[in-house]
Amino acid sequence: MGITFVEQTRTFHLQANDMSYVFQLLDGGYVAHLYWGKKVNRYHHSNAIRYADRGFSGNPIASDRTFSLDTLPQEYPSFGHTDYRLPAVHIQLENGSTVMDLRYHSHRIEKGKPQLNGLPATYVENEDEAETLEITLLDSLTQLRVVLTYTVFEKWNAMTRSVRFENNGRESLKIEKAASVNVDFRSANFEMLRLPGAHCRERHIEQSPLHTGVQSVESRRGASSHQHNPFIALVDENTTEDTGEVFAFNLVYSGNFLATAEVDQFSQTRVTMGINPFDFSWLLQAGENFQTPEVVMVYSSNGLTEMSHTFHRLYQQRLCRGVFRDLERPILINNWEATYFDFHEDKIYDIAKSGKELGIELFVLDDGWFGKRDDDNSSLGDWFVDEKKLPNGLEELARKITKLDMQFGLWFEPEMVSEDSELYRQHPDWCIHVPNRRRSKSRNQLVLDYSRHDVCNEMIKRISAILQQAPITYVKWDMNRHMTEVGSAQLSKNRQRETGHRYMLGLYRVLEELTIAFPHVLFESCSGGGGRFDPGMLYYMPQTWTSDNTDAISRLKIQYGTSLVYPIRSMGAHVSAVPNHQVHRETPIEVRGHVAMSGNFGYELDVTTLSSEEHQVIKEQVAYYKTIRHIVQFGEMYRLVNPFKQQDAAWMFVTDDQSEAVFSYVKVLGEANEPFKRIKLKGLIKTKKYHIIELSESYYGDELMNIGVNIPQLTGDFQSVMWRLIEE
Ligand code: DGJ
Repeated sequence: MGITFVEQTRTFHLQANDMSYVFQLLDGGYVAHLYWGKKVNRYHHSNAIRYADRGFSGNPIASDRTFSLDTLPQEYPSFGHTDYRLPAVHIQLENGSTVMDLRYHSHRIEKGKPQLNGLPATYVENEDEAETLEITLLDSLTQLRVVLTYTVFEKWNAMTRSVRFENNGRESLKIEKAASVNVDFRSANFEMLRLPGAHCRERHIEQSPLHTGVQSVESRRGASSHQHNPFIALVDENTTEDTGEVFAFNLVYSGNFLATAEVDQFSQTRVTMGINPFDFSWLLQAGENFQTPEVVMVYSSNGLTEMSHTFHRLYQQRLCRGVFRDLERPILINNWEATYFDFHEDKIYDIAKSGKELGIELFVLDDGWFGKRDDDNSSLGDWFVDEKKLPNGLEELARKITKLDMQFGLWFEPEMVSEDSELYRQHPDWCIHVPNRRRSKSRNQLVLDYSRHDVCNEMIKRISAILQQAPITYVKWDMNRHMTEVGSAQLSKNRQRETGHRYMLGLYRVLEELTIAFPHVLFESCSGGGGRFDPGMLYYMPQTWTSDNTDAISRLKIQYGTSLVYPIRSMGAHVSAVPNHQVHRETPIEVRGHVAMSGNFGYELDVTTLSSEEHQVIKEQVAYYKTIRHIVQFGEMYRLVNPFKQQDAAWMFVTDDQSEAVFSYVKVLGEANEPFKRIKLKGLIKTKKYHIIELSESYYGDELMNIGVNIPQLTGDFQSVMWRLIEE
């Protein structure tokens, strides 16, 4: 178990609970990939690499025409010595050349997992939870060492990889590409699964067969983005929720990324993932190191559900941090869709008070409380309370709300600056920009230059002052535009293309310092909804606002797609008003409740103007969620009906001890003369009897899972049921 090295064959075998990953040191120091997949106890080279003299595939060892890097499956391929596929690494020397010759130098195996300097990453709580292998490759000409780090989380059945570059030579090297991972599969018989989207339409599931050549998923926006998520999986053509092989990669990074799958001439597939090399470079001077972000790699031989469970468990237990990691999350009410920028202290207090009457636990004051922000044209950066709207200050408002026995939370957008702000007037060069070029705006704002220490320090100071001033127990950390004209006033001309990554390092430092300084504050990440729903953000902030789209029907796809990788309790999901503000659809309050209760629950509407029926329903929803919260937030999720394939959706959540479950079904469009519907449940114990509370019916687990349960005939569009199951 863990990591073994077989000296005779110079083979490394990394083993987790149900997964093996194998590679070998070849003569000459080339590191060849042999296997990743279902666990084998002892590996004996049944799939030993085969060699042949292939035309137009050159030979680095002159005496051997059958050996070419162009065909060899490798662990971390470089550029220039006979491999024509996309390299994992691309580096320019001082003489302008870009050829690298990385060969094995040494290795070490140790217990535990080292932290990644300045970057978010999975971690261990004690050394026995994981084992780490470091393989050092050396380019003897430049004395560059490239340290490949592999960690196996045995119990979690996952592994991580990252790479550290150590320039031990005398010359400066320019890193043009530094992938975090490379896996050379000896097959192209896969489909690629990914989670593309758009603002208000995030993480929709897409899957297509691989074709010869390169296919990629990437962000060039300065954020992981709504448009693409740093996740890909290679899956069998017929992979389902419960069957088929899955090889999944998820980058723990929130900036520009690139994931590629290149199918070569011999039907082999090279996957790489890491910081996007587009418009990136990093000057690595003599004596300096560069650390890539890490990639989490999950293998499943039992389809997508097993993959999701592995990601969920690992992220909940060994990526998210802080006291909230293991706590049930409060039900919140946010004033954004209720008031937008147009509010006054009295209105805010009324919303909080009505929320309290409904049983809601946390009030969140959204955008508009600072500077003179009456719309989105001004004041970002001026994190001082607007006394016109809040004449008694934040502290008084927060205290009043706290006295209701409700927690108080606050919205910030600390990475941005408005041109119309004191901050911008004082420091016009504190934003990301390029001299003599226009500064394009998006939502009328500019991006603060977090690659600068002074900017980061000032923001830490300003945010801390507010958090110290009032009893704030929750922060919504928003980010509402992508980068343009990327450059920094503080970086030299040969470092301008470092701006994007330095920004991320700055942001991670700010988040590290603030979350450590305010451990009692629950941070929720947001970027116009789910524009930065990535593991990098989850490391600092254990939940994310899933989408600005609060329409229950749109949310079926968004939440379903997001659940492939990200834990349910990390997915903010709110009930909002109808007609819905984003898609103008009217759905019943029950459906809105059922969909939002399938995540980290809250409300986002004016609860001071509810009819008495709505008031009653919401009160009941809040009370109901409190009885199922531990199941939804801490149980395993099973996807049952796929809204990307049908006009309905279903999923369920089951506690770890399988004694309780919640089932939820949503019908999208009605049809005349509809067929009857039955759905098979999952995750229960066959021999245990479960009582379905809402139906007052009891069945054994095997009946519910093998035969299924009748779904009532729901008439009309947008209908749903949510049931709670308890072991009798
Ligand atoms: C985008 C967020 O996703 C919304 O929930 C809201 O906070 C607005 N920004 C405020 O500007």
